[in-house]
Amino acid sequence: MANKEEKADDKQSSWKDFIYNPRTGEFIGRTASSWGLILLFYLVFYGFLAGMFSLTMWVMLQTLEDHTPKYRDRVANPGLMIRPRSLEIGFNRSIPQQYSKYVQHLESFLQQYNDSLQDGNEICTKGEYFEQGDDVAVEKKACQFKRSFLRQCSGLADGNFGYSEGQPCILVKMNRVIGLRPKGDPRISCAAKVQRETPLQMQYFPTEGILDKSYYPYYGKKLQASYVQPVVAVKLLLAEEDYNSELVIECKVEGSDLINNDERDKFMGRVTFRINVSK
Ligand SMILES: *[C@@H]1O[C@H](CO)[C@@H](O)[C@H](O)[C@H]1NC(C)=O
Ligand SMILES: *[C@@H]1O[C@H](CO)[C@@H](O)[C@H](O)[C@H]1NC(C)=O
Repeated sequence: MANKEEKADDKQSSWKDFIYNPRTGEFIGRTASSWGLILLFYLVFYGFLAGMFSLTMWVMLQTLEDHTPKYRDRVANPGLMIRPRSLEIGFNRSIPQQYSKYVQHLESFLQQYNDSLQDGNEICTKGEYFEQGDDVAVEKKACQFKRSFLRQCSGLADGNFGYSEGQPCILVKMNRVIGLRPKGDPRISCAAKVQRETPLQMQYFPTEGILDKSYYPYYGKKLQASYVQPVVAVKLLLAEEDYNSELVIECKVEGSDLINNDERDKFMGRVTFRINVSK
């Protein structure tokens, strides 16, 4: 019995010794100076790592330019996108709640094209690139693109962009690519993908769906803060047979050297969306 108690006592004291041994002055198996050295080692070690990291990061950042992306093997081919921001558009033209989100979306997108705002931009010569040199110290100007250029699709005369009459407007825009100079006369052209007896009628604004050259090249957000990209509005003149069924429509950029038939990238120079209007 006494033996057992002694053993328990022993165990407890050896555990206590492990935490702090008064004879050797060790704390958890090490003396204060040993602990000090270990802490010092890790401090120096991690300090060195942090220093290395910051140095390489700093060197890397020094090689970056403020205005253009560093890694571009060639000027990228732009993608197309539509507004409203949805590739599946569906609504009943008699029920405003069903199309109001599209109308609101178009309205907010067009705020940057506000005529009074665009009055501050340049009136440019059509059909020519608006070249402004490479000097990154000079702020670049931008050409006017007023929403009134979009006529019936501007949302000015018809605040519902044709959605309430079942002839909706879709805005097609080409993504910004710094330094892009499209050759030829780029224009947006749309068509229904399924074969029909009579082709789907559409109206383009500006006329012929032109993306005028004066909006190129783009110099980047920092250098050309007032830039707005050109957009093309497509008003779908749906016929009686087009209601209550889904239409698949493809828009492409044509008439230039821009790629619009890449097999792997469905958005390069083109965009496909579905629309179903009921009445
Ligand atoms: C846009 O223009 C309209 C009238 O032309 C004006 O009432 C509105 O405040 C303008 N919006 C912005 C954001 O400038
Ligand atoms: C669209 O809305 C109208 C009015 O509410 C209704 O009469 C019509 O049946 C709706 N169309 C469809 C296809 O649901």
